Amino acid sequence: MAKKWMKEEKLLNYIGGLWQAPSSGKYTAVTNPATSEKLVQVPLSAEQDVEGAVEAAKKAQREWALVPAPQRAEVLYRVGLMMKERKEKLAQLLTMENGKVIEEARGEVQEGIDMAFYMAGEGRRLFGQTTPSELKDKFAMSVRAPVGVVGIITPWNFPIAIATWKSFPAIVAGNAVIWKPATETPIMAYELARIFEESGLPKGVLNVVFGSGSKVGQAMVEQEAIRVISFTGSNEVGRKIAAECGSRLKKVSLEMGGKNAVIVMDDADLSLAVEGILWSAFGTSGQRCTACSRVMVHESLKEKLEERLMIEISKLTIGNGLDESIKVGPIINQAGLEKIKNYIKVGKEEGAKLLTGGYIMESGAHGRGNYFAPTLFTDVDPGMRIAQEEIFGPVVSLIPINSLEEAIEINNSVEYGLSSSIFTQNVNHVFQAQRDLDTGIVYVNAGTTGAEIHLPFGGTKGTGNGHRDSGVAALDVFTEWKAVYVDFSGKLQRAQIDVE
Ligand code: UN1
Repeated sequence: MAKKWMKEEKLLNYIGGLWQAPSSGKYTAVTNPATSEKLVQVPLSAEQDVEGAVEAAKKAQREWALVPAPQRAEVLYRVGLMMKERKEKLAQLLTMENGKVIEEARGEVQEGIDMAFYMAGEGRRLFGQTTPSELKDKFAMSVRAPVGVVGIITPWNFPIAIATWKSFPAIVAGNAVIWKPATETPIMAYELARIFEESGLPKGVLNVVFGSGSKVGQAMVEQEAIRVISFTGSNEVGRKIAAECGSRLKKVSLEMGGKNAVIVMDDADLSLAVEGILWSAFGTSGQRCTACSRVMVHESLKEKLEERLMIEISKLTIGNGLDESIKVGPIINQAGLEKIKNYIKVGKEEGAKLLTGGYIMESGAHGRGNYFAPTLFTDVDPGMRIAQEEIFGPVVSLIPINSLEEAIEINNSVEYGLSSSIFTQNVNHVFQAQRDLDTGIVYVNAGTTGAEIHLPFGGTKGTGNGHRDSGVAALDVFTEWKAVYVDFSGKLQRAQIDVE
């Protein structure tokens, strides 16, 4: 059963299979963004806690790597089944700590369940290559070897799904994990760790250390024994991690921001485009790396699209996501609200036309939580800051275009390259767009969100550093390639020389 949470309960770290208080003795309060009600106290751990986790992980990893991969995978099957049994409870807790509406919370938990079954399947694959040798009576192959102890740092916006994208491939490949979850959303981490504990995962294979990036994250980067850092979060922090890991020759996989766009061509199914824009722009209150924040619309449809979006936005219900009738939940915290508000000011100063929204909602029940009105700007110039920088809130900018080439150029003119989408009925446009849009994910006749776990997730340019979460690509992050040559000729054969 999912745990019953006591109000303001102090959470514990999970190290070497034991639940431990942080050695710092420090905690900070976690609040429900929909109501400002205090939920739990999350540890602000110290370097020593990371050291303890590393020791436990090192010990556990050696044994774990020797367990046959199909047996390692069985743990993930059990984890997936438990997540499935607890799906509704997990979704409710997720809505309480993160704010996303319950339907989306269920979807996020489902994403984790999908990942469990998918990665469990990898336990019977983990394919390498067998290949002919250039010499007689010699065999050549490559195998995936675990890296050892790996560090994962996960964000608050998808606190359970992204944790599964990283921890499941790491674990099935034979690594031990040190996990620093976001301090805003520790309950999901706690629940997932408990599921792992009950699943029979050997102690020390998964360790959870709660705390800040500057203390716990930094200590993870500095720990020699942690050979990989997989991070999802801001561009600013990701760059810092990459620089520090670079000088330590530590592998680092980054998944950062986005400035994702929908292109609406003149032959688009307008109703479908409106639905796709609403869902991908205002789902999770725009707090997705994949959220749509720009719409390049063909001049001929601009007015109609503006009208339709205004009508649909006015129908969006905004409030506590535990209520099934609510479509848009709160923003994670006060700092998030202020950042969005500031971008509204910037947009107005830059000369964009505000069609609706643009304010913090403060009256009635909204005043108790962190709510921002869904916002639409139009006549936005592609060079404006609101069309270039990640806002991470429910704000969309309409940019008029006259051709697909122009839309693609604007799409590619930002620092990021995560997701993009095109609405069109023209097959030539579809193929041109999927080739020329410089993003890691491209959607046709769908919004910019909705990635499935068996395909690679990540992006180009400022979104990442060439790695991917999810799919088989995730295994590349958590394994080393090992080339193995077996010479059964009984004599010394020199490669490249003793060839006929
Ligand atoms: C994120 O915002 O970091 O495709 C993850 C999507 C979700 C995952 C988003 N499946 O929007």
